[in-house]
Amino acid sequence: MPELIPVLKEEEIEESIASVARQISSDYKGRPVVLVGVLKGAFIFLSDLARRLSIPVQIDFVRAASYGAGATSSGKIELTKEIDVDITGKDVLVVEDIVDSGLTLAYLLDYLKKFKPETVRVCTLLDKHERRQSQVKVDYACHTIEKGFLVGYGLDYDEAYRELPAIYHLKFQ
Ligand code: IMP
Ligand code: MG
Repeated sequence: MPELIPVLKEEEIEESIASVARQISSDYKGRPVVLVGVLKGAFIFLSDLARRLSIPVQIDFVRAASYGAGATSSGKIELTKEIDVDITGKDVLVVEDIVDSGLTLAYLLDYLKKFKPETVRVCTLLDKHERRQSQVKVDYACHTIEKGFLVGYGLDYDEAYRELPAIYHLKFQ
């Protein structure tokens, strides 16, 4: 059995989300924003973030599947759920659980830009620098992590651990 090593407590996550939400609310100055959550990992983060924002939002989701099993992204990405909300001319904020290589995000940004939104920014719960390959710009990050495979608060390993309220490093013996 892999070991779960605590990395971020519930209260730390809550505080960082509140602070990022204040920043976003102030940056958009009351303008409405379309939050585009990346399923499945971002579902808990998006629901907590949305409730902390003081600007009007619309909420949508995309689902990005990356081929290849295991703990790393293969770079070959496919969307298995596209957006429903019309984002043309709107301000879009992509809500991710974790940016690692950046390949998923780069693919998503290209996809969203085809709909000609006014702006597209990125908000991630975790900005992990371990395998960054694509120089995508992360506009808002709640926490920066150097390395390790993380689970909990929406993040999974093989669909397990998403329900944990805190974030752990999953250590394989
Ligand atoms: P990227 O394309 O390498 O940036 O990876 C992005 C996706 O890989 C994330 O949205 C997650 O679904 C998954 N991922 C990357 N690192 C982790 C991790 O440490 N724990 C859980 N999922 C991860
Ligand atoms: Mg994800």
